[in-house]
Amino acid sequence: MPYLILDPTDEYAAHQMRFLDRLGLPAVALFSSRGHQGLWRRRYADELGARVVAEHVVDRDDVGGLARTLGAQHPDGFFGLVAWDERHILLAAEIGEALHLDWNPRDVIERFRDKSLMKSWLRANTTVRLNRARLVASANEALAFQDEVGAWPIVVKPSGGAGSMSVFFAGDRGELLHGCQFVREGGLGEVLLEEFVGGAEFAVNGIADHVGGVLVTDLWRYDRRDSHGVHNVYFETHKVGSREEPFAEVAAYAADVIRGLSLRRSPFHMEVKVDDGGPCLIEVGARFAGGNQVTLASELHGHSMFELAACHYLDDIRVSPCDVDYARYDELSARIVSGVQETPIPCIEAVLGIDEVRALPSFAGVGMLRRPGSPAPVSRDVNTKAWEVCLLHAAAEQVAVDARATRALLRYV
Ligand SMILES: Nc1ncnc2c1ncn2[C@@H]1O[C@H](COP(=O)(O)OP(=O)(O)OP(=O)(O)O)[C@@H](O)[C@H]1O
Ligand SMILES: [Mg+2]
Repeated sequence: MPYLILDPTDEYAAHQMRFLDRLGLPAVALFSSRGHQGLWRRRYADELGARVVAEHVVDRDDVGGLARTLGAQHPDGFFGLVAWDERHILLAAEIGEALHLDWNPRDVIERFRDKSLMKSWLRANTTVRLNRARLVASANEALAFQDEVGAWPIVVKPSGGAGSMSVFFAGDRGELLHGCQFVREGGLGEVLLEEFVGGAEFAVNGIADHVGGVLVTDLWRYDRRDSHGVHNVYFETHKVGSREEPFAEVAAYAADVIRGLSLRRSPFHMEVKVDDGGPCLIEVGARFAGGNQVTLASELHGHSMFELAACHYLDDIRVSPCDVDYARYDELSARIVSGVQETPIPCIEAVLGIDEVRALPSFAGVGMLRRPGSPAPVSRDVNTKAWEVCLLHAAAEQVAVDARATRALLRYV
């Protein structure tokens, strides 16, 4: 019996396919567009195509037709569906429903694609702590929301946003209305206003199993800073040990949120802030974290998070703390250092310091590095980080020293 995988066009999918190949499982590859199929053929088909027994480009207007074709070609059914990419999880839910696969129904996944829907669902169906949030359609509604909150800043963001694009922190009425206008014209969804949550921010990563059991695998503290006139720029991301504060409290909160949203058979990546009132949700995706957290978490545990997720996409296994190695995770120190580009470079001539950075004792990998010939834009969000370097070492002090060295060494001219 084959498994289905949607858009195997990236290393995240390739890690899972290599693992499932080793188990001898055949695959049916589904593509959300002809472009994705082309990418697969160019990049991965030679390496991973041997066990792919069929390829189909999905016609979004005829998912039922695809389900009938697949049903006729594979009368024994499918192991399940690997829906690893946030951009296609709604389509995956639709395919899952049409094929009667035991993945998440559309109404569950819709909650993960819309920040406003997610919080209103949680508010109506759970008792987890949430900040005030509301969609607004006019200046009067925006000002009325701020009046109710009674404090500044007010966070303005698109309900369907990602990558910190168009997230504003409005400090007065003028900034609030300007932020709303900008988001409205940005086309990333409706204008969502939120009460600002203070305190420290964390990324919580984990897996939900087939019955909604939740395992938090890794926790990271964001160090985001104001720099060159831009608020909240990515600076560093530090691993938090499983016996350190606030791992237990945040993990329990994250499990309540995931159960409240009824997510099953999926990795999740959540952002929470923790202030005097405890953890409070910023957002959560039914997906893996960005590349470096997953890779580093896999190294920290000595166990691939991609393989763990593949098991839960496809099989009925309960999550358990034995799936990971918290002792090893706790012994090692890890940090993601993000480069901040304060002034734009239209065309990079050279990357300075990369060889020295690679030689640092805790160097574990480069997450992102721009090439000579390409531009280096001013850092504002995920996509405009200058570069990313991952550090991993048994000695926390070594990681701290190397983080400073990385920032001093690595730059574009
Ligand atoms: N209500 C809030 N209170 C305090 N800070 C917030 C709030 N909402 C967002 N932020 C800050 O802005 C960042 C980006 O917001 P959010 O995660 O909602 O947007 P995003 O586009 O999904 O960004 P990313 O992909 O970078 O996580 C958060 O990580 C957090 O630092
Ligand atoms: Mg976010």
